This record gives sequence, C-alpha cells and structure tokens, in this order.
Amino acid sequence: MSLINIAVVPVAGMGTRLLPATKSQPKEMLPVGRKPVVQYVVEELGQVGVERLLFITGPGKTSIENHFDLNHELIQTLRNEGKEELLDQLSFERASIQYFYTRQRQLLGLGHAILCAEPFVRNEPFVVALGDSIIGLTEKSRIVERMTDCFENQNADAVIAFQEVDPMAVHRYGIASPKEEGDVFEVADLIEKPPVDKAPSNLAVAARYILKPSIFDALKRTEPGAGGEIQLTDAIRILIKEGAKVYGVKLNDTNTRYDIGNFGSYFRAFTEFALADEKFGNEYRDYLRERLKKETDADHS
Ligand code: UTP
Repeated sequence: MSLINIAVVPVAGMGTRLLPATKSQPKEMLPVGRKPVVQYVVEELGQVGVERLLFITGPGKTSIENHFDLNHELIQTLRNEGKEELLDQLSFERASIQYFYTRQRQLLGLGHAILCAEPFVRNEPFVVALGDSIIGLTEKSRIVERMTDCFENQNADAVIAFQEVDPMAVHRYGIASPKEEGDVFEVADLIEKPPVDKAPSNLAVAARYILKPSIFDALKRTEPGAGGEIQLTDAIRILIKEGAKVYGVKLNDTNTRYDIGNFGSYFRAFTEFALADEKFGNEYRDYLRERLKKETDADHS
C-alpha cells in the first residue's frame, strides 16, 4: 500500500477568470466532456490509493459536496427504468474514498487554503491536487504514483509536478530552477511568474504536490505575496532555503495538464475530452472538420 493515503483538494477560489459561468457554480464543477473537472481529479486520486480526501471549500461550493454524495433516489429511478448504462455513469459515487470538507473562511490564496488542512493532516505526508486541473486524457495518470516513488526514494521533504511550457508563457507560472537535467530533479529554487529573460527554465508548477506537515510551519511564516495572497510556492521556497530537499517530477507526453482556470484553456480541454469520448467523439470530430472546412472555404472565396 502507498505511504500516502491522504489528499487535500483546494476548491475554494472564486474563479473570477471564468465569470459569468462561475457566478453561482464552482469552476471545479464545470463539465469537461462528460464529467465535472473535480471528478477527474478525485478519480485520479482514488486510482493511486487515496483513502481520505479533504476538500477545502468556500461559499457557493455545496454542489461539490452533493456531487460526491450517494444519490439513492436517482439510483432507484434509473434502476426502475432499467437504465443500466446511466447507472454505470454513477459508479464513482461508490468509490471507497472517505470525503471530508472544511471551509476556507477568507480567500487568502492557495497557501492559506492548504493551511486549513493542518488539523486534518496531522503528522502524515499528503498529496495536494488542485481541483481545477485535470492531468491525463485517455491514459490513467501516473503522475502522483511517480511523485510518491520520488518522495520515498529520495527521502524528499516535498515533491512538485512540473510541465514544460512555451518559454514565452513562463511569466504566468511558478517556474523551477532545477539542480540537474532529467525527468526527476532536485529543485534549487522556485521563481514566481518570472519575465522570460529571468526564467531559469520553462518548467512550470503543475497542480500536484506531495508535502509533509512541515509545510504548515513554513506557511505560517509566509508573507502575503502577489495579490495579497499567501502563495504555496513561497512557503516551499522557505523550506528550500532552510535546507529541505524538494524534488520535481516532469509530466510526460501522456500526462498533459488541462487547467480549467481561464476560458482559452477550458475550451481546449473540453474539445480534447469531447474528441476522446468513446460514443460521441467521432461524430464531434466530423462536425468540427466540416465546420472548419466551411470556414476555410469562406476565407478562400
Ligand atoms: P486559482 O488561483 O487558479 O483559482 O487557484 P481562483 O482564485 O479561483 O482563480 P481566479 O483568478 O479568481 O480566476 C487554483 C486552485 O486553488 C483553489 C482554487 O479553487 C483552484 O482550485 N484556491 C485558490 C483556493 O482553494 N483558495 C484560494 O484562496 C485560492
């Protein structure tokens, strides 16, 4: 059994970049293909042996709690109507994960959201998976498994997932300064949103972390940074400066990250998952082909 069976999934953010879609529903519940974003995240965690999962929620997020509840009435109705295929779609309700919820009572940033998990986590290492980022499309994501191996083999204090991004986009991410080349590397420093000429690499923090409870003490000592928020990356920097061993694990080609944080990336993610849909993917592909051909033909006429 994996050493890590606790996960923390922060879902408290306001999702302002996705307004008006997120005015009264959480961005983590936006559908990507057939499922809401956060269901992919929870399924990924279930596959790697997470048994207890704490959501850090906020105002307007109760639909997340409802989604992971057993809905007996719906199940009964589908059963009575003989809709076996639809019953299958609800199998995630029966996953053997125990869900817990706590509120982040002030939205003071991701670091602050993680701090809300302290009484729950106590002395064990834990995974943090951002509730607005899916990793992997059709392949089962192995990233948390690879991170756990690194955590154990290197006796690390923290492990972070990284994705390679376009060098022109580094100013939008937390960027690693790696100590060495490779798919697994020690992190010398983390630079929050550097300009392209100051970026030590194009490796961007990618929504999955393995942390030890020592992060809580670092978070308490972290000054508010960009936007007055307590940044998780700043707390990890404190750990590094104090001699902690922090490692990075690179996402590989089959583990693309789909970030549902803005409309551009949301639209792309939806298209990818719709195209990959077993039942409707081909029909959607034909539609897109036709649709784009019409546009090209019109441009050329
Ligand atoms: P983001 O910074 O992308 O989310 O956080 P946001 O604040 O909702 O985004 P905008 O800028 O307003 O559009 C990434 C993840 O961390 C959670 C979010 O819910 C999201 O899943 N988060 C962020 C919290 O739980 N608490 C916070 O204070 C901030």
